[in-house]
Amino acid sequence: MSVIPSLTLNTQDKMPLLGLGVYKSTGPNEVESAISHALESGYRLIDTASVYKNEEGVGRAIKAASVPREELFITTKVWNTAQRIGNVDGAFERSLERLALDYVDLYLVHWPVPGCYLETWHMLEKIYASGRAKAIGVSNFEIQNLEELFQVSGIVPAVNQIEYHPLLNQSELCKYCQDRGIAVQAYAPLARGAYFSKDTLLQIGKKYGKNPAQIGLRWMVQKGISVIPKSSQPEHIQSNSEIFDFELTDIEMMAIDALDEKFRSSGVPEDLR
Ligand SMILES: NC(=O)c1ccc[n+]([C@@H]2O[C@H](COP(=O)([O-])OP(=O)(O)OC[C@H]3O[C@@H](n4cnc5c(N)ncnc54)[C@H](OP(=O)(O)O)[C@@H]3O)[C@@H](O)[C@H]2O)c1
Repeated sequence: MSVIPSLTLNTQDKMPLLGLGVYKSTGPNEVESAISHALESGYRLIDTASVYKNEEGVGRAIKAASVPREELFITTKVWNTAQRIGNVDGAFERSLERLALDYVDLYLVHWPVPGCYLETWHMLEKIYASGRAKAIGVSNFEIQNLEELFQVSGIVPAVNQIEYHPLLNQSELCKYCQDRGIAVQAYAPLARGAYFSKDTLLQIGKKYGKNPAQIGLRWMVQKGISVIPKSSQPEHIQSNSEIFDFELTDIEMMAIDALDEKFRSSGVPEDLR
């Protein structure tokens, strides 16, 4: 079992540098089984969303776990429809019910829905003030979205969850966030497998006895970025956690920086195109 380090959010709460993503884990018992294996491998952070349609399964897995609730870090997100309807508190309450929890550790605005997201943020501020979310944050926000948010709110998002991996090195957005105390969390940190055959990663991996997934994940956590790879396979869940027992050199970090191709593995949702 790996001991997974944490970073400190601007709320002073700790967030693990590695978590389990559960997008598309919707088969019978799939998410329960993935979470159970992840907890055995040392994971404590689970990243879900109302739109993933598996919050009930996440809730069942938490209930069945022997790990105390206060050691877990549970993230969920408000979907675009609820933002448009304007019933963000209702959507949040339904997420809590499905998760069978009385609080989440992090509640995120899933996408900056034009014309809605600033109002949504104000609703998240109220949820935060009520203690039902220990931290609030955003996802898929660009610098301009954050600048607009700063104009209307004194609460700095704790996290910006964005697509990030060796083929999409969002260093400018990452620096902007980190300079302002916003933790960056990488989704699709494996680019859904798209960098597994890259020579640079295979070569570096050979030196450390690691696979390209582990090298890619290590490159991000070494930059202080939290990663949430998804897997439903016990051996992948375990191997994705074995990234805290080696350190990449500056030269290796730079070689991976150079792999950027502005490649996105996860598209913009249909209702935002
Ligand atoms: N905020 C957002 O808008 C947003 C968008 C997308 C994703 N997310 C979050 O980020 C999480 C991760 O992103 P993602 O699921 O899109 O992509 P990902 O984590 O980059 O890739 C997941 C894929 O890689 C495979 N995989 C995992 N570990 C592997 C390994 N060691 N070797 C080979 N294959 C491996 C998985 O298959 P197996 O299950 O078979 O291992 C799965 O097909 C999501 O689950 C979700 O929680 C957030």
